[in-house]
Amino acid sequence: SAVRHYKFNVVLKNVTKLCATKSIVTVNGKFPGPTLYAREDDNVLVRVINNVQNNITIHWHGVRQLRTGWSDGPAYITQCPIQTGQSFLYNFTLTGQRGTLLWHAHISWLRATIHGAIVILPKKRVPYPFPKPEKEKTIVLGEWWKTDVETVINRAMQTGLAPNLSDAHTVNGHPGPVPNCTSQGFSLKVERGKTYLLRIVNAAVNDELFLRIAGHNLTVVEVDASYTKRFTTDTIFIGPGQTTNALLTANKNVGKYAIVVSPFMDTVVAVDNVTALAFLRYKGTLAFSPPVLTNTPAINATPVAMNFMNNLRSLNSKEYPAKVPLDVDHSLFFAIGVGINPCPTCVNGSKSVADINNVSFVMPTTALLQAHYYNISGVFTQDFPANPPNPYNYTGNPPTNLQTTNGTRLYRLAYNDTVQVVLQGTSMIAPESHPIHLHGYDFFVVGKGVGNFNANKDTKNFNLVDPVARNTISVPTGGWTAIRFTADNPGVWFLHCHLEVHTTWGLKMGFVVDNGKGPNESLLPPPSDLPKC
Ligand code: C2O
Repeated sequence: SAVRHYKFNVVLKNVTKLCATKSIVTVNGKFPGPTLYAREDDNVLVRVINNVQNNITIHWHGVRQLRTGWSDGPAYITQCPIQTGQSFLYNFTLTGQRGTLLWHAHISWLRATIHGAIVILPKKRVPYPFPKPEKEKTIVLGEWWKTDVETVINRAMQTGLAPNLSDAHTVNGHPGPVPNCTSQGFSLKVERGKTYLLRIVNAAVNDELFLRIAGHNLTVVEVDASYTKRFTTDTIFIGPGQTTNALLTANKNVGKYAIVVSPFMDTVVAVDNVTALAFLRYKGTLAFSPPVLTNTPAINATPVAMNFMNNLRSLNSKEYPAKVPLDVDHSLFFAIGVGINPCPTCVNGSKSVADINNVSFVMPTTALLQAHYYNISGVFTQDFPANPPNPYNYTGNPPTNLQTTNGTRLYRLAYNDTVQVVLQGTSMIAPESHPIHLHGYDFFVVGKGVGNFNANKDTKNFNLVDPVARNTISVPTGGWTAIRFTADNPGVWFLHCHLEVHTTWGLKMGFVVDNGKGPNESLLPPPSDLPKC
């Protein structure tokens, strides 16, 4: 294994899109930011230097951070932010991981412009468990606001109103041809007869997305840096924080084919149907030749999203076995809600809140990992409820007497405990599918269904053989998803909705995982340059 050094300079940059120029916070002046390349088991060192007025942290989304929670990155969870003029060296090892992941800012809404791909190649001389592609291409999907993104969320928090929807979706930073603007949209150049590995990253802020390429199917081989059984599809479904590796064979004659990216909202709350347009362009095709078009799935095409997820299975081969916990020490049931609380200072006298088991998470001002490591009391409690206070019919009308409570409450686990979490989507005010992300772990998606979870009936149908391993999973509106993991990584680990608007409203909690007794089972000591609050 090797040591890889990177330098991330956080700087402002003027960028023009949709015919408007604005100053954005970037890494090294790039949007999307630089791709980080490494191999499985490499040690990665990234020096992040903050040259802007905002506080910064970077999260390596999906990197397990075994015993190195200090480098995980969520502000006030594992570290205090890097302040203006300061720097911090993120230091982690990609133990047993290969595939595609992403990195992004993990403070306020800065990840809108501070994000990029992480490409982890297999160890030298270790082949892919699928036909070797001739070329690899990275596709980073994002969202773009014409106005300043920090202003968008700050205004929403002050007024209690929902934040403005983005003005465009982007493919590798390009919104696609815009009438009367010069932007041409992103072109993925291919040669006839060759096979490409597409590494697709959803770095959007608030939208789960569909991706389609006119006239071409995609064969999925990996998601969230875990190999899957191969399956061929005409549509990729990908939530914020998720990654998908898929093979594309350029089996057409010369020509230009539309790549369309459109949002999914299973219950349409606000209509956000801005489609991003990019092109698959064969060598020998003129840039301005008219593309072969394709339609997008309907915004509420739940069956398309479900079908994609149902086809995902762990590869579960001899080399890459799925080590699914067969028994569970902790059986948790998390009801996920978005609702309205009174707010006298807000425009309508109310504001949106989001919660898990009626707890809306309050961000601390001391980093939780430090409070845990140094035994600082009064920062968090360890009484996060294993069940909702008053179970109800989650798919019927929401009860009127649900009181959301506020707290910085964590759930405590002993080293190597096995955990099952049933994530139950509810029909609360803003019914929406939630991409739930767990830091520090990959989990197995052992089951999912529509309606209320029924422990007696549904547990029997769990897939404990080859469930897909992920770090982010969609929980459907009025349905549930069950995950399992083994708590073999000591530290404090965030779990939250990866729609940034819901995270802001409080749809988050954390696990505190104790050290084990063995020699390699404890959290390493904090690095000496860890930022102070
Ligand atoms: Cu990609 Cu806590 O997030």
